[in-house]
Amino acid sequence: MLSIGVISQKGGVGKSTTARLIAVNSALAELDTKIIDLDIQQGTCTAWNSRRMQNNITPHISVEQFPSVRAAIKKSSGYDLVIFDGSPHATKQTLEVSQVANLIVIPSGTSLDDLEPSILLCHELKSKGVNRDKIYILLSKVGSSEVELNEAKEYLQRSGYNHFKNYIPEKTAIRRALDSGRCANETDYKSVNETVQKAVDEIANKIGEMV
Ligand SMILES: Nc1ncnc2c1ncn2[C@@H]1O[C@H](COP(=O)(O)OP(=O)(O)OP(=O)(O)O)[C@@H](O)[C@H]1O
Ligand SMILES: [Mg+2]
Repeated sequence: MLSIGVISQKGGVGKSTTARLIAVNSALAELDTKIIDLDIQQGTCTAWNSRRMQNNITPHISVEQFPSVRAAIKKSSGYDLVIFDGSPHATKQTLEVSQVANLIVIPSGTSLDDLEPSILLCHELKSKGVNRDKIYILLSKVGSSEVELNEAKEYLQRSGYNHFKNYIPEKTAIRRALDSGRCANETDYKSVNETVQKAVDEIANKIGEMV
């Protein structure tokens, strides 16, 4: 069983959106996939999956809520891939996910307000013994400015931590898709889906390298 942890100490950066995106695309690739919804307060992925089922959207996704990483792992053998959707402001859980996951994805906005805490989290995880090679920052909710995007990429480059070259754009279409149980590359707009597809393909390739 492979596992991906989608984590960030910051709220609202796109953790649950990324977890849902990876889950749908892994299911399409015929991996037996489950989202472990560790955000039991909000249950974002759980509620989304309920909308997905109500709207009869395929592929069907398994989502289960767990109060702890340990409990989740105990009950998740038999899956090809599990995706941890982490809670914000959850220092202990964030570290636990990072210790068990094969790949760690940290979604981050392009502003310094978002980038700086993301890098701090990388430092923190590294100082706790997490292998930096498995940590990847994913630029998420990226606006339409090419200049801003490139500056964010340069910042990440200088930090020395890994980041994905592709990104998830900020789009109303993505919010609308999520509202109806679809994921970020199942929007009504082909160009949005294509941009998001590149990001999820890059993540999938990374998982592939880890097998
Ligand atoms: N690429 C995007 N474009 C537009 N809206 C987005 C995008 N990604 C996420 N959103 C919206 O931003 C909000 C937060 O997204 P999401 O739930 O994925 O973040 P999160 O990091 O899981 O938040 P939390 O820390 O509260 O768990 C949601 O309303 C979601 O619909
Ligand atoms: Mg969330």
